[in-house]
Amino acid sequence: MTPRMYLQSLARSSVRMTPWVGHPNRGVHALGHGDGRSRDHVHGYVGRCLAVLLALLMVLATPARAADDSLFRALGGEAGVAAISAGLVERVYADERIKHLFQETNPRFLTEQLRKQFCELSGGPCKYDGETMKKSHAALGINKAHFNALVEDLQLAMDAQGVPFATQNRLLALLAPMYRDVVTR
Ligand code: HEM
Repeated sequence: MTPRMYLQSLARSSVRMTPWVGHPNRGVHALGHGDGRSRDHVHGYVGRCLAVLLALLMVLATPARAADDSLFRALGGEAGVAAISAGLVERVYADERIKHLFQETNPRFLTEQLRKQFCELSGGPCKYDGETMKKSHAALGINKAHFNALVEDLQLAMDAQGVPFATQNRLLALLAPMYRDVVTR
């Protein structure tokens, strides 16, 4: 018997045993007199408590739903994430502080990799299939100032898309742990 079937049978039996469900006064009355119905009342009560407990357990035991896509949607979905990635790449290639690091990289490839990464990270329907952050940045000699410059460019790219500050921070919070893989000096 599945938990759901058990719950249903409990619900049926509690209705049978406690025809006065919904009439608290009658319930108290029956209990106070200790007649046959008081046991039914207790059984019904226990049954309903068990049902509630089981329902709670079922909710808790349900595997997490497919990734929460609220951030992806807040970023503007497919189109928003694509525009943010393109905006970021456009800005880093023009940013005097870091553009020298991107000379060997194809901007279209980078845009596409960032799009997939941001999309997946934010709960969208994409799969990032690129290199690990550690491997792809290992040879670049990125320092803290470089990292901060790229984050600023990302913020500007999100501003340009009208992404609210709080939403921007949600994406940045997901990227923050990558700092230790990207910054090597
Ligand atoms: C959290 C921050 C960062 C994220 C999420 C990120 C993400 C990425 C991704 C997804 C790729 C493509 C990897 C691949 O599939 O080959 C990449 C490559 C690259 N990133 Fe980053 N990156 C970050 C920080 C930085 C910083 C701070 C710089 C330099 C200022 C930088 C410079 C580069 C360069 C030059 C490449 C191309 C490497 C190559 O051509 O093989 N990244 N990054």
